[in-house]
Amino acid sequence: MNLTLAQGEQLINDILNSGLKLKDGQEVVIATPFPYLLKAKALLKNYPGFYLAAQNCYAEKSGAYTGEVSAEMLQSVGVDYVILGHSERREYFNESNAMLAKKIDLALANGLKPIFCCGEPLEVRKAETQNQYVAKQLEESLYHLSAEQLKNVVIAYEPIWAIGTGLTASAQQAQDMHAFIRAQIAEKYGREVALHLTILYGGSAKPGNAGELFACPDVDGGLIGGASLVAADFVAITEKLP
Ligand code: PGA
Repeated sequence: MNLTLAQGEQLINDILNSGLKLKDGQEVVIATPFPYLLKAKALLKNYPGFYLAAQNCYAEKSGAYTGEVSAEMLQSVGVDYVILGHSERREYFNESNAMLAKKIDLALANGLKPIFCCGEPLEVRKAETQNQYVAKQLEESLYHLSAEQLKNVVIAYEPIWAIGTGLTASAQQAQDMHAFIRAQIAEKYGREVALHLTILYGGSAKPGNAGELFACPDVDGGLIGGASLVAADFVAITEKLP
């Protein structure tokens, strides 16, 4: 919940005009607040490799849910991706794994690619039970999907203790969890699906640590919060993509 429309427009234009060159297969997904989606769609129109995301959608198809936004509405304004299960949504809005499973279904049914966020709080990391914690999030929100459906899901591992705190998971911590997630998916859906799965790292990623994080074999990119609000930082991070 940052920036006015004019500020957001400036930010997107600064990123687009930075001369950033995407390599084959690389994508930049800009996730704006709901009121700016249409404007952002128009700005991104002639930039191949740039896609549009919303930061949430509601867990029901349509109807009397005043103030909520459905997956179908997002699809109708040209949104490509939707972030689901960000830790702030889980924490401040009580989004459960079961509710997220419904959101994932609605997103997929409407042709949106979910960016599904998972990750453990600090107490869990301290108790060294982060693998079980994340495995449960995957199981309860994703494992009802077919392999065909899962191919359209991006997973973002975001240790909660690293989001917006300035603390970053070490490259080794990120790699260990990403490899664990890929192994879990391989076990459930097979090696082929797991190899093609995009797993992003999120949590205080910045130009100074992005290179090291992205160099990890199982880290396929980043979900960038604070640093995405400064065009030069976001571009510098993007230039370090694998
Ligand atoms: P951060 O945010 O990069 O500011 O830590 C990440 C996120 O909100 O997903």
